[in-house]
Amino acid sequence: GRPRDLAGRRVVVSAGGTREALDPVRFLGNRSSGLQGYALARAAVARGAQVTVVSANVTLDDPAGATVVRVESARDMRDAVLAAYGTADVIVMAAAVADFRPAERSGSKIKKTSDEPDPIHLTKNPDILAELGALRRDTGGPGPAVIVGFAAETDDILANGQAKLKRKGCDLLVVNEVGENLAFGTPDNAAVILSADGPAVEVPRGPKDALAHVVLDLVAPRLA
Ligand code: C5P
Repeated sequence: GRPRDLAGRRVVVSAGGTREALDPVRFLGNRSSGLQGYALARAAVARGAQVTVVSANVTLDDPAGATVVRVESARDMRDAVLAAYGTADVIVMAAAVADFRPAERSGSKIKKTSDEPDPIHLTKNPDILAELGALRRDTGGPGPAVIVGFAAETDDILANGQAKLKRKGCDLLVVNEVGENLAFGTPDNAAVILSADGPAVEVPRGPKDALAHVVLDLVAPRLA
């Protein structure tokens, strides 16, 4: 069996993709299925952790043994993740969080007969992962021992990934190689896991459960 190397640890995993409402019936969204986040949640449960999944618009069965908090938008997700920040040992941001949202949410359905030529205006969402890193750095005090980010990159994976790791202040960054039927909505993934203080770990194409366990293999020793 698996090591119970996360016994008693509190692990928060964000999963799925946020939706940003335009009006009562429309949203801006993305194609994240939540498969990788749910695989991480199951893997952490199997290793003995107390797991909370902050789940954005996922239609999969709940991971057995985890607490699921459902959210819709990036701002909902931020509230839920920050609420768990103080007691979390590990936070894994596996969710695809919208970088932008409609600047205003219309209370009624936006009509195509509107005389506004350019009816959708966007504003930036908070970067939750960067906020977690900054919070931990600025408070210098208690906070999750390990913060893990995900990133989809298509080129210059190592250089772009290392820059993102620093910018976001996380400990590990799981860089997905997107494209060729990988990542979004598929059961398989391939990744390079970067850390500020160790060698890059290449994870060849395989089931998302396998990648989840490799991530936790790198997380567990950082909790000791
Ligand atoms: O900057 P980029 O979107 O590539 O970063 C991806 C990582 O940052 C993921 O871990 C994602 O969950 C997180 N993220 C976030 N808030 C955002 C955008 C991304 O926490 N607004």
